[in-house]
Amino acid sequence: MTEQSPGLSNLLTENRTFPPSDEFAAQANATAEWYQRGDADREAFWAEQAERLSWDTKWTQVLDWSNAPFAKWFVGGKLNVAYNCVDRHVEAGHGEQVAIHWVGEPGDTRDITYAQLKDEVSKAANALLSLGVTAGDRVAIQLQMIPEAIVAMLACARIGALHSVVFGGFSPTALRSRVDDAAAKVVITSDGQYRRGKAAPMKANVDQALDGAESVEKVIVVRRTGEDVPMSEGRDVWWHELVDAQSPEHKPEAFDSEHPLFILYTSGTTGKPKGILHTSGGYLTQTAYTHNVVFDHKPGKDVYWCTADIGWVTGHSYIVYGPLANRVTQVVYEGTPNTPHEGRHWEIIQNYKVSIYYTAPTLIRTFMKWGDDIPAKYDLSSLRVLGSVGEPINPEAWIWYREHIGAGKAPVVDTWWQTETGAIMISPLPGVTATKPGSAQTALPGISAIVVDDAGKEVPAGGGGYLVLDKPWPSMLRGIWGDDERFRETYWSRFADQGYYFAGDGAKYDNDGDIWLLGRVDDVMNVSGHRISTTEVESALVSHPTVAEAAVVGASDPTTGQGIVAFVILRGNAVDGGDAAVQELRNHVAKEIGPIAKPRQIMVVPELPKTRSGKIMRRLLRDVAENRQIGDVTTLADSSVMDLISAGLQSGK
Ligand code: WTA
Repeated sequence: MTEQSPGLSNLLTENRTFPPSDEFAAQANATAEWYQRGDADREAFWAEQAERLSWDTKWTQVLDWSNAPFAKWFVGGKLNVAYNCVDRHVEAGHGEQVAIHWVGEPGDTRDITYAQLKDEVSKAANALLSLGVTAGDRVAIQLQMIPEAIVAMLACARIGALHSVVFGGFSPTALRSRVDDAAAKVVITSDGQYRRGKAAPMKANVDQALDGAESVEKVIVVRRTGEDVPMSEGRDVWWHELVDAQSPEHKPEAFDSEHPLFILYTSGTTGKPKGILHTSGGYLTQTAYTHNVVFDHKPGKDVYWCTADIGWVTGHSYIVYGPLANRVTQVVYEGTPNTPHEGRHWEIIQNYKVSIYYTAPTLIRTFMKWGDDIPAKYDLSSLRVLGSVGEPINPEAWIWYREHIGAGKAPVVDTWWQTETGAIMISPLPGVTATKPGSAQTALPGISAIVVDDAGKEVPAGGGGYLVLDKPWPSMLRGIWGDDERFRETYWSRFADQGYYFAGDGAKYDNDGDIWLLGRVDDVMNVSGHRISTTEVESALVSHPTVAEAAVVGASDPTTGQGIVAFVILRGNAVDGGDAAVQELRNHVAKEIGPIAKPRQIMVVPELPKTRSGKIMRRLLRDVAENRQIGDVTTLADSSVMDLISAGLQSGK
């Protein structure tokens, strides 16, 4: 198999297991028998899960796979996603239940009940309609973690418009390319956002992004930081002026089960991000089901907190859709985990008695670095399930999480999935599985995932290869926005004969047949759980006038999983490869893509290692980036290149 994230091989020697307590198992939402039911009749199993939702018209067929890889789930069914996430809970008498305990970074708070959420979503839906947004239109949303972000998403869903949420940290260039690709009619943003105690502009970036953007008719601006922002006459409207004036009555229309719900862009192996398309019935079924069984969520009792940002798929599926469909009471926190102090998360858990906490390994490792004494100061006894997502979690971090946050009792569920899968695919069930630190273990009931070799043949226990999904699943992506060919090529061509979905991750079975994820096998890096393609960063570097050529690798990093290391050749007249030049290039990448893509390190080199066919050998560059002995150089067109690079670096050039 091709290159895997290095540094993870020690995972495979891990052999501790933690079975659920009898007490937990006795009250768990799912039992071991679910696996058999899922296998025995997959479609019947999913039909049962779809009953978690309120359908306006029931489906006539569970799955239509006749036009594979374009799936149709719950064919003929009609439902309104926002109604399922909000109204039906109010109708069932839970209007007074808090849906969102919102905590602002400066310390302001808001509790929003389901009845209030229904009013807010209806008003926002009416507001969008008043601007001429109709079903099928695209609305781009660039907002920080404020309630309006969730309200805006649900308002789109309510009227059948597709949202395309763009992470607040993305640059104007990145926002613009996403707005253009989806031809968004409306953009929703805020005046500014709080970040580490300071107000940072949002609207100014959006203005820069939208200069000349032809599809955009209106920009809705939420007031958050109160700073002065120029409003463009005829285009820009304040949220509070537009939305607050609307009626809180809006009758949700039922849409087809396959009606598009949203587009979410994610990095691929080329520079251009892919607009991953999700639809309604299947997506909501699987997000609701997984949120229920993986977190053992009990509506009205649990207090749930997923620390993701709505700019990523985890925020879509496990803050907005799955949890709200399940009548969650959840914490939504606006800010960074160390503002104003490093115990902020634990303080919030203590204050709201959070019982289910879902976060990312990179943050767990950061907490470890900050010290055990910090969580120890808080009462975390309300926690009963701990989740992890975004990258492989190393056993050390897993054990720390269980011991220091979960009091050595709370089950840790390591959940593997992707923007494309829409919902969790591989994970332990907290009341059923004896968990193993570092392994996501097995596909959930109703899901099938296997590890195959180059030829698409399943590897035996103990063997490694590629992770594939060999059976369709309800929340699977329905395509790449505007690019069916790329959809087939990216996910379905690698194992076309078998009809398997190629996930792009390396994986291995242990001797019990449990799955261990080993990182990406393509040119996608995983930095703090965020997917960034090497090509994207390379293109950004090459767009700088001083750069002739660039090659980027993900080097293993103790905190962020991988760190971005770039090798650049400067143009002839730009001989100065000093600190200032490097700093300038790092900032240039942040400006082009966003601060998350800023290289950890940039090395100025005289040459890049290439094969005879001109392909850059990233494996060798990774050896340099990770201070390892340089590997086999025999396939290089010029085998002396690595000596040149090493010599240049040693002499500090
Ligand atoms: C990685 C995030 C190991 C993987 C939900 C995948 C993981 C990519 C895990 C998707 C996990 C996510 N163990 N690796 N539990 N969860 N990944 O689209 O490489 O942002 O392909 O979705 O993250 O990232 P995405």
